[in-house]
Amino acid sequence: MTSKTAHWDHRYQVGDTPWDSGIVERELVRFVKSRTNWTGRAFELGCGSGTNAVYLAKTGFEVVAADCSTTALSRGSELAAAVGVSVNFIAADLCSVADVRRALGSDSAKLERSFSLLFDRGCFHCARKVNLTGFLETLDWLAAPHTNFLMLCGNPNDRSEGGPPRVSQDEVRSELGGLFEFVSIYEFHFEDRGGITGPLGWACEMIRRA
Ligand SMILES: C[S@@+](CC[C@H](N)C(=O)[O-])C[C@H]1O[C@@H](n2cnc3c(N)ncnc32)[C@H](O)[C@@H]1O
Repeated sequence: MTSKTAHWDHRYQVGDTPWDSGIVERELVRFVKSRTNWTGRAFELGCGSGTNAVYLAKTGFEVVAADCSTTALSRGSELAAAVGVSVNFIAADLCSVADVRRALGSDSAKLERSFSLLFDRGCFHCARKVNLTGFLETLDWLAAPHTNFLMLCGNPNDRSEGGPPRVSQDEVRSELGGLFEFVSIYEFHFEDRGGITGPLGWACEMIRRA
């Protein structure tokens, strides 16, 4: 276990997880419902305790959900079992495509660039500070031309104390724009536990360049 992985796992163990609302992300629901009968394979980057991965599975997607925290992943597996859906939860460092492939095991070759939807709520804004190049290599491996990507991250226009790491719109565009074309970027609020309005974020809808 690396120190970063241990850091995240510890936060789940002690309950220092303000992002872990247990509520399905509204922007994800809106994104999925904006297309008719959209299914196929979905990959969630930094799935945490699995609320959104389970939602995607209930919607009909074949879901792979990755996180480096095994504590979070166990909770996701318990939730999926309780709801009665199948999600392939994998423990992997998303800044290392080799580690993602290792975690996928014998499914790895079949899954390369096979996902129609990528979803990230709060992983990119953390991982970019650790190893942006590695994270982009993983995205490149997951996304085929025309794969849709919804990424939610912190927004520097939020002037409140604390909250998630902030990423400027210019940074989002320059860091992800090589791989993805932007369909829209708009401000939204994360939703905290209990349905309370949380920090301001960017919702970024992208399509993998051909
Ligand atoms: C802010 S939390 C968001 C979790 C989840 N998406 C949610 O909305 O509840 C960021 C998540 O990314 C995971 N994470 C951070 N860096 C990672 C990495 N390099 N590889 C895999 N997971 C990572 C953390 O363990 C944590 O679960």
